[in-house]
Amino acid sequence: MDFHTLNHRRSENQSKDEDYTPKPSKPWSFLGIINYLLREQRLFFILIGVGIATLFFSVQPDFMKPTPRLQTKVNDFVPNLGSQSLAFQSHVSADPITLLRPGAKMPLGLKKNPLRIVVTGGAGFVGSHLVDRLLARGDYVIVVDNFFTGRKENVMHHIGNPRFELIRHDVVEPLLLEVDQIYHLACPASPVHYKFNPIKTIKTNVMGTLNMLGLAKRVGARFLLTSTSEVYGDPLEHPQKEDYWGHVNPIGVRSCYDEGKRVAETLAMDYNRGANVEVRIARIFNTYGPRMGIDDGRVVSNFVAQALRKEPMTIYGDGKQTRSFQYVADLVEGLMRLMEGEHIGPVNLGNPGEFTMLELAEVVKETIDPQAKTEFRPNTQDDPHKRKPDITRAKNLLGWEPKISLREGLPLMVDDFRRRLFNESKGSSA
Ligand SMILES: NC(=O)c1ccc[n+]([C@@H]2O[C@H](COP(=O)([O-])OP(=O)(O)OC[C@H]3O[C@@H](n4cnc5c(N)ncnc54)[C@H](O)[C@@H]3O)[C@@H](O)[C@H]2O)c1
Repeated sequence: MDFHTLNHRRSENQSKDEDYTPKPSKPWSFLGIINYLLREQRLFFILIGVGIATLFFSVQPDFMKPTPRLQTKVNDFVPNLGSQSLAFQSHVSADPITLLRPGAKMPLGLKKNPLRIVVTGGAGFVGSHLVDRLLARGDYVIVVDNFFTGRKENVMHHIGNPRFELIRHDVVEPLLLEVDQIYHLACPASPVHYKFNPIKTIKTNVMGTLNMLGLAKRVGARFLLTSTSEVYGDPLEHPQKEDYWGHVNPIGVRSCYDEGKRVAETLAMDYNRGANVEVRIARIFNTYGPRMGIDDGRVVSNFVAQALRKEPMTIYGDGKQTRSFQYVADLVEGLMRLMEGEHIGPVNLGNPGEFTMLELAEVVKETIDPQAKTEFRPNTQDDPHKRKPDITRAKNLLGWEPKISLREGLPLMVDDFRRRLFNESKGSSA
């Protein structure tokens, strides 16, 4: 082929290329899509993929849920953050355990991590026993306490444990911590202490509870309120069930506590209904045990301290009013079951064994000193005549009931009081 013929063919081909127009793409028709899916077993592979995904997410339903911290809006309003709490937040936020909600299922292949738990009032009588149990379980515990009635001695044995922190803080002021669970106990519990400054008591119950519920909302933590049998007031039903609304004097000297706890329950339920905060409400009946305040005015601690000091046991009124007494370890077990369970409550936690004050004085005599004496004084205002929990709900929902009788628990408390009274008297004489 000569050069001219070659050039001629090239220019012919070029003009053919320029004439080429691509085939217009056909619009997708229903039949076209079906055809496409049926070819080369595409439908079969798509169905297999859908099957695998369904299986995975039904086994791990929480896997794709945003964590509480991620759900938290960064610009949520939290006034007056102390530098201490901010420092703490930056310290804890890198820890992956804060990414898991209580009860949330773990991604496959990961071990269950311990929880980060705040216990307000954790240096008090009940709080310190709860802290012992939570640390023994392997959780991280932050105690928040203003030491009004709590004592550092109650938690001293945990100082140095890397999973334990103690913050001096008044819950009436807001606080920011990254936690998974909040046990809210902060509130003076004995009449002597809650009547000492009633305005502070009601502030603690209302503002303190609001602050801790706000924290629970912000970080997606589960919140447990330690309410009280006092919400039943001087009850007209006996024993008291959770659906009894109570008989409470709203303007009496005990109202800062009774009504304060009733408001705290209302706040918890409103945060649950209005802000989806997971709440739990425990109504605690009289509890006794080691680490109770020696002179806190509660009847068991009064009788034990008086009998040990060889003073007459003071009985207010005729001594025929009844109370039920649960040992602190039973209560702590109930609180933890309530927190871990799926039921909001309120749930009565108490020992249904009912004693008159005269009978209690007899048990204290048997345990400490058969020669101990009693003396009678006029009763205090609004002192309830009868108090006994109906614990059917706790039995059914939590599988819980108290295990330790008064005659078993009292000697444990007496040992602790004897040691503390003996040490204290040595200290004061020194
Ligand atoms: N012990 C019982 O028989 C009983 C019965 C019913 C309810 N409760 C409830 O259980 C909880 C604990 O009771 P307890 O017997 O251990 O009482 P407690 O007085 O020994 O403990 C209360 C703790 O809260 C702290 N506190 C008080 N006000 C505070 C505040 N504003 N900020 C921070 N910390 C504060 C105290 O310093 C103390 O450590 C209380 O909420 C109480 O109402 C107890």
